[in-house]
Amino acid sequence: MQKSNSKNQTFIKKAIILAAGLGTRFLPVTKSIPKEMLPIIDKPCIQYLVEEAVASGIKEIIFVINDSKLSIKNYFSPKKNEIKELKNRLKKTKKTAELKLIESIEHLAKFHYVIQKEALGDGHAILCAKKIIGSEPVAILFGDDIYDSKIPALSQLIKQYEKFKTPIIGLQKIDKKDSKKYGIISPEKSQKLPENLYKISSLVEKPETKNAPSNLAIVGKYIITPELLKTLEKSQSSTKDKELRLIDGMINYLKTDTTKNPHQIHGLKIEGTRFDTGDKTGFLKATMHFASKRNDIK
Ligand code: UTP
Repeated sequence: MQKSNSKNQTFIKKAIILAAGLGTRFLPVTKSIPKEMLPIIDKPCIQYLVEEAVASGIKEIIFVINDSKLSIKNYFSPKKNEIKELKNRLKKTKKTAELKLIESIEHLAKFHYVIQKEALGDGHAILCAKKIIGSEPVAILFGDDIYDSKIPALSQLIKQYEKFKTPIIGLQKIDKKDSKKYGIISPEKSQKLPENLYKISSLVEKPETKNAPSNLAIVGKYIITPELLKTLEKSQSSTKDKELRLIDGMINYLKTDTTKNPHQIHGLKIEGTRFDTGDKTGFLKATMHFASKRNDIK
């Protein structure tokens, strides 16, 4: 597990992990197994995210899942009788370390589960958790975007939120020819910020290379504020049955900026190695990477 870096971090206590997507890039296995439950060695991808959140000071985690992803709930919040036999066997055979290991998972954080009935986009998925979010800033983690980093990726974002109190987007520098796969930011010019930090003037979803305003791509980690959540909700009506993406809410949030009420969003280039585990190659790379760090199998 990543080392806790939660000292002095008091603002963000809740994280939403989005895991209700259909995982079409990882078919056929995702026909019945959620991509978030695919193991990187012996631990589901989504547990890496839970551990990242906990190491960043998060106390409550809200999973947005769908009806065919209940294995996520069964893993983090199993009913007593579901793992009774396994626990008894581990006790009997004195496999104390294994017993502790499986018991610790349930206590990593307070877990909630929300069902997104139809995959209507990541923005729609966030709105499904609206009631539990309340009126606090909250962390958003995509269920297939994991980092290996000295300081937990989410902790890096929280630190910037505490400074700016604006929504914060996790960024990664990409080769511009890949811009079609990402949301891309346009950083504001003439600003005195550290090299890895950007004030965002606009965002564009999956542009062609020639239209990409920069090589700074959005990754699946954000801090959002109650004001941004309100704008996301309003963005819903304009998209009707089309998917609602978080980026739609962010684009509208920047558009509705007024002199009286300046809407700002900052982006942070996250330090660390990123893996898109929702993609087959990304998943393999993550497996090789984490395996090479494990003494028992490297
Ligand atoms: P992705 O586009 O990466 O995931 O969504 P996907 O839709 O599952 O995958 P592909 O593209 O079909 O292979 C980003 C994140 O948002 C979640 C996904 O689970 C993922 O964590 N998501 C997406 C939802 O929770 N609900 C949605 O309706 C869409």
